[in-house]
Amino acid sequence: RSKPSMEEDYVFKVVVIGDSGVGKTQLLGRFTRDEFHLDSKSTIGIEFQTRTVVIARRRVKAQIWDTAGQERYRAVTSAYYRGALGAMLVYDVTRRATFQHVARWVAELRAHADKSIVVVLVGNKADLAALPGRREVEVEEAEAFAEEQGLFFFEASALSGDNVEAAFMGLLGEIH
Ligand code: GTP
Repeated sequence: RSKPSMEEDYVFKVVVIGDSGVGKTQLLGRFTRDEFHLDSKSTIGIEFQTRTVVIARRRVKAQIWDTAGQERYRAVTSAYYRGALGAMLVYDVTRRATFQHVARWVAELRAHADKSIVVVLVGNKADLAALPGRREVEVEEAEAFAEEQGLFFFEASALSGDNVEAAFMGLLGEIH
């Protein structure tokens, strides 16, 4: 909600978090530029991208922040979460460990982010889950966890683009 210019009514800061390699940077690239790269390198430090969308007849500039999932590259945590109105917490549906770590990311959010932050849990790489033997996290299990924690939930694929728009727009639509 800070410093809107002539072109928008609101600015919403959103942070994307989750383990390394789950697809945070690609989800962001898909949403802001409709781009996807299979050879994406790990994020070092912090970057943000923006896209202006219309929600309930207001122009909202989504300022979406992306940081490294790897501990050693992570910048100052409290600065990253400061002013964030929304968070997208990502795991990889083909790597169970990334889902098991979601509770840790929720704890970090609760410790550093504003109490009223809106959180969407995203199970990414749904395209791979369609291949035999690749899925390691069932939809029902993630849904149950999200409900218990008060998170919104989507499975998505940055590669195909499935549900990427729905997850980001759903999150932005819940911010007031
Ligand atoms: P860090 O910056 O290390 O925290 O990683 P990240 O979470 O930003 O992951 P990134 O977006 O760099 O993606 C990691 C790898 O997964 C890359 O090779 C991507 O191309 C691939 N990837 C991301 N999203 C998808 C997806 O939806 N489907 C498939 N098949 N691959 C994906």
